[in-house]
Amino acid sequence: MFYTIIGTQWGDEGKGKIVDWLASKVNTVVRFQGGNNAGHTIKIKNKTYKLNLLPSGIIRGKKCIIGNGVVLDPWALNDEIIKLRKQGIYINSKNLMIAENVCLILPIHKLIDSMNEEVRGSEPIGTTKKGIGPSYEDKVGRRSIRLCDIKNRKILSKKILNLIDFHNYRFKNFKKRVDKKKLLNDLTSVYRKLNKYSQPTWRIINQIAKERKKILFEGAQGALLDIDFGTYPYVTSSNTNSGQIFAGTGFGSRKNHQIFGITKAYTTRVGSGPFPTELKDKVGDYLGEKGKEFGTVTNRKRRCGWFDACLVKQSVNINGVDDIVLTKIDVLDELENIKVCVGYKINKKRYDYLPFSEESQKSIIPIYKIFKGWQESTYGIKEWSKLPSNAKKYIKSIEKIIGVNISIISTGPDRNHTIDKKKYLKSI
Ligand code: GDP
Ligand code: IMO
Ligand code: MG
Repeated sequence: MFYTIIGTQWGDEGKGKIVDWLASKVNTVVRFQGGNNAGHTIKIKNKTYKLNLLPSGIIRGKKCIIGNGVVLDPWALNDEIIKLRKQGIYINSKNLMIAENVCLILPIHKLIDSMNEEVRGSEPIGTTKKGIGPSYEDKVGRRSIRLCDIKNRKILSKKILNLIDFHNYRFKNFKKRVDKKKLLNDLTSVYRKLNKYSQPTWRIINQIAKERKKILFEGAQGALLDIDFGTYPYVTSSNTNSGQIFAGTGFGSRKNHQIFGITKAYTTRVGSGPFPTELKDKVGDYLGEKGKEFGTVTNRKRRCGWFDACLVKQSVNINGVDDIVLTKIDVLDELENIKVCVGYKINKKRYDYLPFSEESQKSIIPIYKIFKGWQESTYGIKEWSKLPSNAKKYIKSIEKIIGVNISIISTGPDRNHTIDKKKYLKSI
């Protein structure tokens, strides 16, 4: 059996926590898109782990694979490995493998990321400035340097020349310069630390599948940041949807796959772009404070708002979500009333989905259904029967609106703060 974790909103839904929770039952965890723009948090008692590139299964010592669909900053990965080893996590070539055809993020990509944001003036995307977009641009432009290119100095030299020559015209305008020799030496030196992980991972994944071992695919970002189906241009530069699992890993099986949509009980977003249910009032501040809504990667304050069932339903359809995991229900504990967006009004017309045009997105009026809050603590509850009745009503109602079972409910950041309504962990 194969499992996938997909964020159904704008990221930070609690994917890391749920991957770690499910990982106890699988053999291998695989990342298939994005890069170190991701920030996945795992809490186990008094220990907190923050992962950017390493699949979250590494905390449980599972076999972890970084697939070809990821863009890999080799220096960032090396630092992350060092940081996690210091926290007592075991990482070697037996439990970490990186696709040898993965495309790299180089220092120039971070430079271009910042330049691009500067050029957008008053309308920046609000990227993480990790070089994600520019690296994917070079991949599609067939100029990328891949992990397997580093081992041959002659080939690497040629590829660096080709890449820098392409970008130099624009660099000159920004009075920037790239030292090609330094890049060659730096890449060669970081490769000495990473080459032991470099593998044809597509073969390994398919072999693991043939042996009938369980594989968990760990999505990064969220469905609304998808380059095709997100709120373009305020999106990331990869396909974050479940269709990307196959292209981003070379995994060939289309059978026996269960997709979990990780969904926050309210909505957050980091960076710019439309956000129909955003709250710029006391309730928004409350959600931000109680939910500790600060970016894991950039420490920026996350924008907060009501639950948008309309958008989540759209994500469920596009991603083929089988079950919803509802996280951070405890953050709503103190609210007297809770609103859920069930549709939009745009220029007097009713919509049950988000139209793509930026013009429509700017004039959205959300249509809300109001629920009574429960005003008691749900923090750390592990059984469905122990939830307050208004919390159950809230969950059942959004389940009905979205049309998919909410099978797992997260009531706190810890691995154990989880209601396994369908007893999944026992059945896997
Ligand atoms: P990810 O990017 O989807 O993995 O999510 P992040 O780690 O960026 O952000 C989620 C934050 O919420 C982390 O700090 C988690 O520890 C925390 N978290 C996850 N689930 C819950 C929950 O059910 N309740 C509370 N209060 N915090 C949670
Ligand atoms: P996880 O995996 C939330 C957002 C950035 C910005 C946009 C483009 O932790 O859920 P990029 O650097 O990717 O070019 O930025 O995407 N973004 C995220 N927001 N969670 C993430 O990852 C994100 N990764 C990128 O804030 O708005
Ligand atoms: Mg995150």
